[in-house]
Amino acid sequence: MLKLAFIGVGYVGLVTGTCMAELGMEVTCIDISKDKIDKLNLGIIPIYELGLEELVLKNLKSNRLSFTTDMKSVVEECDVIFITVGTPQGSDGSADLSYVEQAVVEIAKYMNRYKVIVDKSTVPVGTGEMVKSKIEAELKARGVEYDFDVVSNPEFLREGTAIGDFMNPDRIILGVESKRSAEVMKKIYEKVLIKGVPLLLTNLETAELIKYSANAFLASKISYINELTELCESIGADIRAVSKGIGMDKRIGSAFLNAGPGYGGSCFPKDTAALIKISDAAGCKLSIVDAVIRANAKQKERMFKKITKAFGDISNKVIAVLGVTFKADTDDIRESPAVSLINNLLNSGARLRVYDPGISELVFINNEESRNNLYICNNEYEAAEGAEALVIATEWSQFKKLDLKAIKHKMTNTWFFDLRNLYSPVEVTKAGLNYIGNGRNNIVSIIYTITKDGKEDYEVI
Ligand code: UGA
Repeated sequence: MLKLAFIGVGYVGLVTGTCMAELGMEVTCIDISKDKIDKLNLGIIPIYELGLEELVLKNLKSNRLSFTTDMKSVVEECDVIFITVGTPQGSDGSADLSYVEQAVVEIAKYMNRYKVIVDKSTVPVGTGEMVKSKIEAELKARGVEYDFDVVSNPEFLREGTAIGDFMNPDRIILGVESKRSAEVMKKIYEKVLIKGVPLLLTNLETAELIKYSANAFLASKISYINELTELCESIGADIRAVSKGIGMDKRIGSAFLNAGPGYGGSCFPKDTAALIKISDAAGCKLSIVDAVIRANAKQKERMFKKITKAFGDISNKVIAVLGVTFKADTDDIRESPAVSLINNLLNSGARLRVYDPGISELVFINNEESRNNLYICNNEYEAAEGAEALVIATEWSQFKKLDLKAIKHKMTNTWFFDLRNLYSPVEVTKAGLNYIGNGRNNIVSIIYTITKDGKEDYEVI
């Protein structure tokens, strides 16, 4: 049986390694952090991902999954080595490849026979070639010669649904340079491919570009719909109906057309910036991606202005903020639009009562005055206590089921800012609150259908 190694036990490495073990492969995950590895061997998971803990424990128990810091023995024993280290955004916007380079040096140092080295981290176009020449140089310096292949295998996992995304992907992308490595990779993914999932085999550069292009395209869909929110507000249209209306066209599709306070997370902001760098370096201007980034920054700013505009002077005003994470079902706050809103509000002197089911502290607030103006609450109703306004910034499902009358009762004023459009304006107004959505104008739209058994059906949006 093929033995797999994952270098870098971050989000991608841990989820992918665990899922590969679940598919029956023998997997070892390596990280330089001894503390992290010790905890993982005890089944303590450093990230929050639905269903992951259960899978880690199950596969640890069956000995298909193990965690270590011992690079030498793992490289020697494994047939396929996945690089899953972070590629953070460097100060100039390009991806910082230093962790990838370190991993490659270690692999080459201990290589003892044919290996397939798989780039799973999101890396700029040309990285596969760089990995190849670095390994060749290291082997030469060692005075040894071994065959090896480099493969690009980008991941398309979303935080919160990563296990399902791995087990049932829309496609698998492989950049390969030899039949031998293509066969190895096909074997690894056999149990997924057998479900009918298509595998796209191409060269290294194309596979690397597919990853960036996919994320930039999804970011474009979001920025596009978000830009229309401002237009909807000024011309009397409703963004939810616009989104439904265009999404029902199969050529467009409804996914990723939910208007919100801007996209965040560890991928879209970083990957759109990196794609600009890649294209600049190649001498090709990507004006659409550039506009997507600017539109996102503007949307984040617009959310803050929306609150100050409706409210007037917000200094010393008590505001409840529901949601800190960049989206629901995660504890990740990286590039979260809620975080920039919280910062903006605090900088304007507002006093915040914040609640997020995935967050127990806000470490990013390091200024004393802001910290004194911030109170972390244990639930939505505690956050609403004494607040003049309530802002929904993240779409946690529990925020969709608020007892609006109870919320109103706790508040001292009636402002209800629904930046994710979770509520119908009518419903909120009925509870005595002053509804302000994102791209909405108290419009009720209806989708009417006749069901197969001839009955009429209405969906209010
Ligand atoms: C994203 C991609 O969706 C994954 O396919 C990819 O593998 C991953 O990046 C990555 O490169 O590793 P993720 O960052 O986990 O996944 O989150 P998404 O679910 O894509 O959401 C990103 C942001 O867009 C969030 O802030 C979310 O709230 C926002 N969003 C998403 C909207 O505002 N509207 C939508 O309709 C969809």
